[in-house]
Amino acid sequence: MNMLVIGGAGYIGSHVVRTLLDKGHSVTVYDNLSTGRKENLFAEARFVEGDILDSKALREVTADGIDGIIHLAAFKAAGESMIRPEKYAVNNLTGTINILNAAAENEVRRFVFSSSAAVYGEPRYLPIDEKHPKSPENFYGFTKLEIERLLEWYDRLKNVKFAALRYFNAAGYDPHGRIRGLERNPQNLLPVVMEVASGMRERMQVFGNDYDTRDGTCIRDYIHVSDLAEAHVLALEWIKANDRSLIVNLGSETGVTVKEMIEAARRITGTPIPADIVDRRPGDPAQLVSTAQFARETLGWKAKYSDVDSLVSSTWEVYRR
Ligand code: WQD
Repeated sequence: MNMLVIGGAGYIGSHVVRTLLDKGHSVTVYDNLSTGRKENLFAEARFVEGDILDSKALREVTADGIDGIIHLAAFKAAGESMIRPEKYAVNNLTGTINILNAAAENEVRRFVFSSSAAVYGEPRYLPIDEKHPKSPENFYGFTKLEIERLLEWYDRLKNVKFAALRYFNAAGYDPHGRIRGLERNPQNLLPVVMEVASGMRERMQVFGNDYDTRDGTCIRDYIHVSDLAEAHVLALEWIKANDRSLIVNLGSETGVTVKEMIEAARRITGTPIPADIVDRRPGDPAQLVSTAQFARETLGWKAKYSDVDSLVSSTWEVYRR
């Protein structure tokens, strides 16, 4: 298929582009390089530098015989979204509406969207399935849920079939070492751990060790980006084959504590990774773990690289350089 990947120079986007190219699809990357990186681009993909707030440029790029859009251009720091909701409203909401309108106008009927486990909010039960109540605890999660609702209307009224992929905690790097771009100012656990291991920062903070978990630190479901990337292609093929929309969780089904992740990183990198226990970070649920049953049944998808050692070692390969 002739695919347009919006946000294709970003951390997850570049892995999705790599997987599409590996499977023989043609790819145009549309990215404003605000968080994406030129070094994440591949020679085999066409690159158009552009912003999702530029409706005219979006209409032009979607008019080029595009068979499907994968949209990963969003701000994703949940904490920041509570302080600067305007930034998230404009980019994540207005930007996506612009893309959807361009898609509808040019009759692009397949749309894969990066949604998030943040749509669920504080878990009422575990593991979290797709029927779990949606009650976002942060503005970021609210933008993702609103977009899912918009997608349902564009499906009904404009016949745009979508896959909304609810990622849990994305981590890791391409196991073949083909993606090297570091995230700018990372706030997520694994890149922070790696910045300490590689000497880019001196020490790190562990946000709370008094949670009701096996070692007192929060449990998350870390899912390898290459596994996520594979799911994008499967979802695209699924909506093409079934001409229907789909909402699906993508997680590893394994809960890992913050301490376990840091310990694994100490072992694999052979560095001390100094970590100070500090207060809890507001809005952090004690545990988030997904079931991937629906993804298995509908897409035949299964995480391959999402064990702790693969996550840490593939990320370390990039940071140690
Ligand atoms: C993981 C754990 C922290 C940094 C975020 C988004 C969520 C989703 C996934 C995409 C937590 C702890 C972290 C540090 C720490 N995004 N931690 N020290 O918050 O689970 O989820 O990414 O859709 O919407 O909120 O991920 O990596 O920030 O944190 O102790 O320096 O690591 O408290 O328990 P989070 P995270």
